[in-house]
Amino acid sequence: MLRSTLLALSKSPRVAKFVTHNSLSRRVVRRFVAGESLHDAVAAVRAVNHAGCLASLDCLGESVTTEPEARAAAAVYAGMFDRIAAENLVCNVSLKLTQLGLDLDRQLCQELLAEIVARADAHRNFVRIDMEGSAYTDRTIEICKRIHAQRDCVGTVLQSYLFRTEQDARDLISAGIRLRLVKGAYQEPPGIAFAKKSDVDANYVRVMKILLTSGLYHGIATHDPRMQEATKNFASEQGIRKDQFEFQMLYGIRTDLQAQLIREGYRLRVYIPFGTDWFPYFMRRLAERPANLKFFLSNLFRR
Ligand code: FDA
Repeated sequence: MLRSTLLALSKSPRVAKFVTHNSLSRRVVRRFVAGESLHDAVAAVRAVNHAGCLASLDCLGESVTTEPEARAAAAVYAGMFDRIAAENLVCNVSLKLTQLGLDLDRQLCQELLAEIVARADAHRNFVRIDMEGSAYTDRTIEICKRIHAQRDCVGTVLQSYLFRTEQDARDLISAGIRLRLVKGAYQEPPGIAFAKKSDVDANYVRVMKILLTSGLYHGIATHDPRMQEATKNFASEQGIRKDQFEFQMLYGIRTDLQAQLIREGYRLRVYIPFGTDWFPYFMRRLAERPANLKFFLSNLFRR
């Protein structure tokens, strides 16, 4: 109930205006978002690399409504690869197709993505297409496959709360596409998604096993210690080496578990979001964990 309310509010321009214009909320957001500029983000990547982790940079933004906005986002992404190379960072990028104008014009979105992936290729880097709500699943997969057929340094994300995910995993793996597995962060109708957490988790483990035995290098993205343990145990049983997959976690979340994975010799990529358009991302993080909402509200009303 709280989760669906927060996810519904994440689309409200009025709530967005209230939260983003409040200086206290901006301070709380810094726990999950590395800052507003690329300069801030690069500093966060440097620190994360220094701690022994890989990184993925996300310039926050989604659901753009004009072509100039989509082109501006694409220009930021293309420039990020130059900066990553110049700074010698161990870091790829994550982006959303609605940030590149998927809602406006699919052809434009695809062209912008192709340009970004070409720049990544020139730098021997990698683009991860985040997965958004289920209205975008088919298009995201189709676009990813199309671009991947030209250059293989692009992959996408699958969500274990969707019934279709096991089949999508097999299909994308057969095309040689590298995947990030997550539970899923959006509000989905019961007809297409598991409603019970135990079913989402069981499907996560099922798909994780498909990924780990596929011979491709994938990302297992979760803060759930039970999912991480299941992955470690399965890899060890199957003789899958620690450098044949990576764990992924979000900036600022369960840093204790992040440090533990590094101590144990696993590869960990930290997803580092930055930018001014942080409101929907922030609301999804609140929706995942009621304690975050309590922390946010107590700071918001503190004087
Ligand atoms: P779960 O929600 O069961 O949480 C397990 C435990 O993790 C909690 O008990 C708590 O301790 C901790 N935790 C989880 N979320 C927390 C939070 N916000 N704050 C503090 N503690 C928290 N989703 C999507 O739909 N498309 C995408 O492209 C991505 N991309 C992505 C990249 C990466 C690197 C990660 C880690 C996650 C995503 N997600 C995502 C989000 C994902 O779908 C999911 O909503 C969150 O990861 C929460 O699910 P968990 O697997 O962490 O487990």
